Amino acid sequence: MENLIIPRHVGFIMDGNGRWAKQRNKPRNFGHKKGAENVEKVVSACFKSGIEVVSLYAFSTENWGRPKDEVDKIMDLLYKFLIKYEKTLIKNEIRLIVSGNKPELSKVLFELIEKVENSTKAFKKVLNIAINYGGKQEILHAVNRLLKDGKSAVTEEEFESYLYTKGLPPIDLIVRTSGEQRTSNFFIWQSAYAELYFTDALWPDFNEQELESALSWYAQRNRRFGKI
Ligand code: IPE
Ligand code: IPE
Ligand code: MG
Repeated sequence: MENLIIPRHVGFIMDGNGRWAKQRNKPRNFGHKKGAENVEKVVSACFKSGIEVVSLYAFSTENWGRPKDEVDKIMDLLYKFLIKYEKTLIKNEIRLIVSGNKPELSKVLFELIEKVENSTKAFKKVLNIAINYGGKQEILHAVNRLLKDGKSAVTEEEFESYLYTKGLPPIDLIVRTSGEQRTSNFFIWQSAYAELYFTDALWPDFNEQELESALSWYAQRNRRFGKI
């Protein structure tokens, strides 16, 4: 992967866990477990390739509409993931940010997130996990806080400082697995100029080789940003 133009910030819409399990006649939750197990490897390959910020879509505001048993399992997996991953984050000097409406999560998960965000806050590389996240919800949350702060007009920069991703560069590349070609309310402001890469691979099967294909594809894009 040498000499490629590497994106600074890559977002992953980790889709297809349910279908991965279904293909194996297993319950959907088995797919979520495999999906969670796949995160560490992909994230470390990203940082190894020189990406500075990795954003992961783990649970959307819309995902609350799934059966309670599935939602509970995903929350449990997120909790276990963070418990186990904190050491790795510290060892590899990666800062954790969780984007989304965190106070709505269970108290134990919320407190764990705050603890890990705090223990990693000095690091430069960033892992940004979207949990109970929706792009529209994030923008409204920012607007409501701006109004509360008495603002009546703001610049783009000031607005961005009210988003969960405050201080992070915009998303250069979105990778969505499982063949769906939509972004499902994922960082809509931050990805205004992102390149969009879709692969048929289901998230539990997404690996270093898949990442390399996405990065090679990205390196060929001609990013004009409206110019000629
Ligand atoms: C993505 O996999 C994980 C979450 C949305 C939490 P899905 O659960 O959406 O898997 P499919 O799309 O049903 O295959
Ligand atoms: C998007 O996947 C959300 C996450 C990956 C967490 P979904 O499976 O929820 O999205 P839709 O329903 O296909 O748009
Ligand atoms: Mg899905």
